Amino acid sequence: FIPPSSGGGGGSVAKDALGDDVTTKKWLSTHGAGARELVQGLKGDATYLIVKEDKTIEKYGLNAVCTHLGCVVPWNAAENKFMCPCHGSQYDATGFKIRGPAPLSLALAHVEVDEKDTVVFTPWTETDFRDGGKPWWA
Ligand code: FES
Repeated sequence: FIPPSSGGGGGSVAKDALGDDVTTKKWLSTHGAGARELVQGLKGDATYLIVKEDKTIEKYGLNAVCTHLGCVVPWNAAENKFMCPCHGSQYDATGFKIRGPAPLSLALAHVEVDEKDTVVFTPWTETDFRDGGKPWWA
């Protein structure tokens, strides 16, 4: 897999809060199982990287923009949900909408790792595995 140059159409390198490229080695040294933390994703959107129970990075990221009116939705580890502070929408640990007023689940992006161990997001255009439907964001 060869990532396109940054800013290019297909994919984008995940950037951490300091603007540095995210590598799996660095990320997993500071994020444990179950972590859901924000990085910069496709089109600059805040996107959650998920660390699985086996301490690898999940193959999908979640766009943090609430599908109601666009607030960034925080992860609530104690509740095991994403809970929007603006109007109370809730999403489960996979970003599936479980409470409105949000109309839709959080958007997905593919997470890939290139030969330099850098995390790269690419657009998710396939079926949404959470509800078996077409991705509304594609
Ligand atoms: Fe999230 Fe309204 S913007 S519930």
